[in-house]
Amino acid sequence: MKILLLGSGGREHALAWKIAQSEKVDKLFVAPGNAGTAQVGENVALKADDFEAIGRFVVAHGVDMVVVGPEDPLVKGIYDYFAADEALRSVAVIGPSRAGAQLEGSKDFAKGFMQRHGIPTAAYATFDGTQVEEGCRFLATLRPPYVLKADGLCAGKGVLILPTLDEAQRELREMLGGMFGTASSRVVIEEYLEGIECSVFALTDGRHYQLLPEAKDYKRIGEGDTGLNTGGMGSVSPVPFADAAWMQKVEERIVRPTVEGLAAEGLDYKGFIFFGLMNCAGEPKVIEYNCRMGDPETEVVMLRLKSDLVDLFEGVARGDLDSRKVEFDSRAAVCVMCVSGGYPGAYDKGYPITGADVEGSIVFHAGTALKDGQLVTAGGRVIAVSSYGAIRSEALAKSMEGARAIRFEKKYFRSDIGRDLDA
Ligand code: AMP
Ligand code: GLY
Repeated sequence: MKILLLGSGGREHALAWKIAQSEKVDKLFVAPGNAGTAQVGENVALKADDFEAIGRFVVAHGVDMVVVGPEDPLVKGIYDYFAADEALRSVAVIGPSRAGAQLEGSKDFAKGFMQRHGIPTAAYATFDGTQVEEGCRFLATLRPPYVLKADGLCAGKGVLILPTLDEAQRELREMLGGMFGTASSRVVIEEYLEGIECSVFALTDGRHYQLLPEAKDYKRIGEGDTGLNTGGMGSVSPVPFADAAWMQKVEERIVRPTVEGLAAEGLDYKGFIFFGLMNCAGEPKVIEYNCRMGDPETEVVMLRLKSDLVDLFEGVARGDLDSRKVEFDSRAAVCVMCVSGGYPGAYDKGYPITGADVEGSIVFHAGTALKDGQLVTAGGRVIAVSSYGAIRSEALAKSMEGARAIRFEKKYFRSDIGRDLDA
């Protein structure tokens, strides 16, 4: 089988690494990819949202399956583009239709969906630009902190958590006034949920689903989860509180009703569902849906998935996912992300990277490039080091050793990934 994977981050390198291990794969293309994906597949210079160019490439190279890494092409309708084209219709697209991707593409849609299907989530109300005063009055009925979410995609920046009513009302006015462009023309105001987060992932063929290993990511730049939010500084799997009893609640109350709800509403969905959950005193609630895998969660989930990912994708495409086997590795996995100094603020690119071949760990490139044959930094999140361990602390120690061995100017990484979960 020939597969084209879309995307260029650490998530995509981890997916490419796993896909390349499958005996079912003859050829793996990655568009546009990075210096890491070039080690396991062939990079092609296509933008992940240039559907026409992707379609032409797929036809020209006889690609059988397109796996979509990031949300953007999905929300823009790549699944529908392929379905509507005679020459592309038979190509399997792993990812939901545009309508299904609204689970991530519109916070208001996701909240309404959860309400319709009785899926536990924070209480909420949605306001548009004509309802600024109503929104401000609604905020006054809530207790702090206040959670404001731009309805549309904002590259992870659309959620504000504000300590005082004054700030919340001011930010609401700004958001509805166009702070995030059309993405914030509607704003969801929601109840603040107290607890610990956990990312749960399912693959679905639209009728059946299979759960993948769960993970926890670490979003803040600083040790002890302090400072600014980032794209993710590391991740761990498994998550201790996500034991069999908790996961049973997640499946019964959240995963199954979501898959059934998508089918009942006629939303085509053949791909990953990412459930961003809060564990509220033992009860799981949905904070958000994403229509893709998480980053950097994928960098540990792929280590713990023992089964052939391409076999599962085939099940997704053919609608017989229930007949495929999913096995987890019982070991722990920890990912430590090396980032550019200054990130998530301003940072420089183009620094040479050395020591990226770390023994005993698996290195996933995020923001790297090859410049005249030299590996260089090309993003804020540069390179992820993932390791197995009999227990989490062992995996963390190995990943930190790897992160230390990789060298580039102004490198920074967190050394406390997963430590909050230690008993
Ligand atoms: P999202 O973009 O929806 O993932 O939100 C970003 C982050 O904001 C989440 O990962 C949570 O840490 C936090 N967050 C979002 N919604 C809530 C909520 N209702 N209560 C508490 N924290 C939240
Ligand atoms: N790690 C969270 C995300 O990918 O959205």
